[in-house]
Parts: sequence; C-alpha cells; structure tokens
Amino acid sequence: MRRNIVHVGAASLIYEIREIVAVAKQLRALGMDITWENIGDPVEKGEVPPDWIRGIVRGLVDNPKSWGYCDTAGVPETRTFLAEQVNRRGGVTVTPEDILFFNGLGDAVAKVYGFLRREARILGPSPAYSTHSSAEAAHSGYNHVTYNLDPHNNWMPDVDDIRNKVKYNDSIAGILLITPDNPTGAVYPRALLEEIAEIARQNRIFLITDEIYSHIVYNGSPHLHASEWAGDVPTLAMRGISKEYPWPGSRCGWVEVLNHKNNEIFDDYAKSLLAAKRLEVSSTTLPQMSIPLVMGDTRYPAHLAGREAMFAKRVKEAVAAFDGCDSVLINPPGGAFYLTVMFQPGALNEKQTLPIENPQVRERIEQLVKGVAPDKRFVYYLMGATGIVIVPLTGFHCSLEGFRTTLLETNDEKRAWIFKTLRESIDAYVASA
Ligand SMILES: Cc1ncc(COP(=O)(O)O)c(C=O)c1O
Repeated sequence: MRRNIVHVGAASLIYEIREIVAVAKQLRALGMDITWENIGDPVEKGEVPPDWIRGIVRGLVDNPKSWGYCDTAGVPETRTFLAEQVNRRGGVTVTPEDILFFNGLGDAVAKVYGFLRREARILGPSPAYSTHSSAEAAHSGYNHVTYNLDPHNNWMPDVDDIRNKVKYNDSIAGILLITPDNPTGAVYPRALLEEIAEIARQNRIFLITDEIYSHIVYNGSPHLHASEWAGDVPTLAMRGISKEYPWPGSRCGWVEVLNHKNNEIFDDYAKSLLAAKRLEVSSTTLPQMSIPLVMGDTRYPAHLAGREAMFAKRVKEAVAAFDGCDSVLINPPGGAFYLTVMFQPGALNEKQTLPIENPQVRERIEQLVKGVAPDKRFVYYLMGATGIVIVPLTGFHCSLEGFRTTLLETNDEKRAWIFKTLRESIDAYVASA
C-alpha cells in the first residue's frame, strides 16, 4: 500500500474471550472434548428462554410489520415503553427521544467510543470487560486508562484511585462503571455509586454505565439503575435483552441518554451518536417489538426472580467447590453469571503443569505456553488436560492473575463436574512444581 491504511488503534482490538476459542478448536480437531466456559451466552450453555417469551416472538413473526425497517433510533412504541419504565423508577426523567437502540450493546460500545473526540479518554475498571477496554484503547490510539477494582474489598472500585486519576489526568472525559460487573460479578452499592457520580459532577465529566446485567442480581445486592443515582450528571446508561430473556442473538440493546440538556458539549456528542445511527438505515425491528410485550407481561418479574434464584444457588455450589483452596481468592458474585477466581500472589510459576494424555495435544500446549502470562499458562494446561475453556484474568486488561469461568452450565451433573475439575486442577497444578 502506498499509504499505511491500518488504524492507529488496530493493535488494541484484542478479545481474549474469543481468541482462546481458536486454540480450543485446534484441540477439538485433535480429538478433545471441549467444555466452553469462556463466553457469557446462556443459550449456548443450554438455557431455553421460557415458552411464553418464545410464544410472543413467534406471534411477532406473523406480524408483517416486524419484517420491515424501523427508525434507526428504535421502534417508537418501544422507546416510549422504556422511557416510561425509567420515569416510573423516580430519579432522572427521560423522553422516548432519549432512548437509542443499537445492534446489541457491542455495537453501542463501538459507537460510543468511536464517536468520541480522539483526545477524550474514558476511565474504565480493571479487570476490564474487553469490548469496552479495547474500544476505548482503539479510539484513543493509547493503552486503555483504568481504575482498580479491589479483590480484597469484594472487587469494589477503588474510589481514591478514580478521584486521583480524574484529578491528575485532564484528558479523562468520562468514567465507565459496569454494575453488575463482568468479569467479577460485583454489584456496587448506592453510596459508592453516588460518590463516583459526585466525582464526575465536580470535574464536569460524564458517566457511562453498563447495566446489561442489572436484572440478574442476587444474595441481597441492590437492583439499581443510573437514573436512580446519577443525579444531574450527564450519563449514557446501557441496557439490553441479551442476558435477560436471554436472547443474545437478537442483537438488540439500547442507551438511555440521561441529563443531556445539562451540558452543551455532552448534548452535541449525544446528537452525534444519533446522527451516526441515522446512517445505518434501520435497527433490529422484531426484537425491539417484543420488548413491551415481554417486559410488560405480568410473568416477567417472576421470570427474572426465578433466574436470580437459580444463579444464587449456582454461586453457592461454585464457592463450596473452592472451599479451603489456599492458592486462590474468591469473592462470591452478587450479580451477572460469572465467577472470577484470583490466584494468590506467588501461587503460579513457570514450571507448573498438568498431565495431558494425548501426545499431540500436549505438544501443542507446550508450544503455546512459551512466554505467556502465568495465568494463561494455567488456562492452556487446563484446556489440554480437561477440555475446559476459561479466560485468564490477565486477558481482562489486568495485572492480577486468575481466571473467569461462568455459572451458566444448565446440566447439574456437568456443572458439578466443571467446578470440581477446576478445583482439583488448581490443586494439582500448584502442587506440580
Ligand atoms: C458487560 C457487558 N456489556 C455488553 C455486552 C454485550 O452485549 P450485547 O449482546 O448486547 O452486545 C456483554 C456481553 O457479554 C457484557 O458482558
């Protein structure tokens, strides 16, 4: 090429959760049985959305309107329904025009960072969910800027770290909060959220809140939406149906633009998101049409409560499996459907291994582990020895070692096997050298 056509941020587009899949597929080709614990797709793990929700979707297929284009910002009736939901909660009020639909939150994330001015940085959590951290890094052309989630305080954000980074780095234009969080499952209490909103207010910056798991909260953690605690701070609150119905293949998520009138620059930026959407012709019509019918149905609260109880029970099983395991630290999640297991400092080294029966698989793993982070080395050996695919914590833009697994396996026996095998593999790996 006579000109370099590669974007400055191209190298930042890493997604460990998916990249590990390429390796797992190679092992599968060598005859291994693979257990996918690397991705948050409840349907892939055997969950079938309730019949009544599928019935609503089936009904919509017979409605010719669901086959057409819709407004790029979203189906008007659905935007009205969602605006009313926000307004019923109390706190910030919105109009239907403040609700913008995207092709899943993955698309919303790409647009939200992609249309920010290059020098404007968003301070995000570490460990970081890669879709946000990679998009922010790619947009800026620099490493993602992060604040710490504290493993010794239930993975809560380190508020002093946020305060200092915002104070001393004036390129920071916004703070990202993911609650309930991926990968840690932490759910932040109202007082802490209000404290972070106050930092944003004092420094005249905005908030991005990813609330995709906000209706998967258990064990006494609070159900909170940004509209309830952000006060007058300009905020983009992200929601979707991927994890709730669950329907990740619908590619349907939305952003609630809160308090845009309170700041002219933020208002212009929000308008640019809408303008970018208009270039897209349409958004996903049928899934959006289902939202008032599903979320407005009297059976929906029981559906959500049932799933919350289900995940709460699975957290107990997972935590029990690691009972007494001194080489790791576990904070039981209060929401979402992941479990992050952190290795204690010094628990891992470059000599540890797990026995791998298949010689071709062993050879492949031994090639792969050369020069990788210690937790990734464990992840590869685990994959080679047991077929379980998890994601190393260092893959979440984080220097702490550990891994993320899920609570999604629907087969009770298989789930018990996964937790037990993870525990036994940690013990065997740590003891091996
Ligand atoms: C925190 C978080 N935000 C956004 C997404 C993407 O959601 P969607 O399916 O709407 O693109 C995920 C998916 O795992 C997620 O964990």
